[in-house]
Amino acid sequence: MSPVTACLMALLTVGFLVAKQDASVLQEVQADALAVEEAERGTSVSDKIRQLTQNLETCANNQDVDCFLAYCDDDIRMMPIKSQTHIGKTETRKHMWWIKLDVVTTYTVKEIIPTDGSYVVEWIEISMVYPNGTTVYDGKGVNVWKKVNDDYKIYIDIVNDN
Ligand SMILES: *[C@@H]1O[C@H](CO)[C@@H](O)[C@H](O)[C@H]1NC(C)=O
Repeated sequence: MSPVTACLMALLTVGFLVAKQDASVLQEVQADALAVEEAERGTSVSDKIRQLTQNLETCANNQDVDCFLAYCDDDIRMMPIKSQTHIGKTETRKHMWWIKLDVVTTYTVKEIIPTDGSYVVEWIEISMVYPNGTTVYDGKGVNVWKKVNDDYKIYIDIVNDN
């Protein structure tokens, strides 16, 4: 091997090692960016679901069925206490007598579990109190929120008393 060839080969080897190093650094940076993006998505999804839950609570306290149903998917599966499943908004609407009760409804978010991005699972506590302070209802629920465009709608709503 001529000294020139040897020199070229040495340079190529160094170049290859540098490129390899760069590639692994790049991979690490990409992995970090992905983790940050995922964490941010998790946080923003939680914030979004919390906000939607608060809006839903306002609908309930305004005794407003249309407002409540606006946060539900067209194909909602509503599973109330001691009742069969109501499928769709039309069927669900027929069974929303409870919203007309003169009570203060509070939804307390216990946990929000984002999944692959299409659905979010939320666990809430539900309380309904008469204006005189007497509790009417204490219970809990699970909402499965379905991603619809850039928004989320309740797809499954399961409620159960304590
Ligand atoms: C509170 O109000 C509800 C509904 O009007 C009534 O049934 C209940 O007896 C009241 N409780 C008290 C302690 O006044």
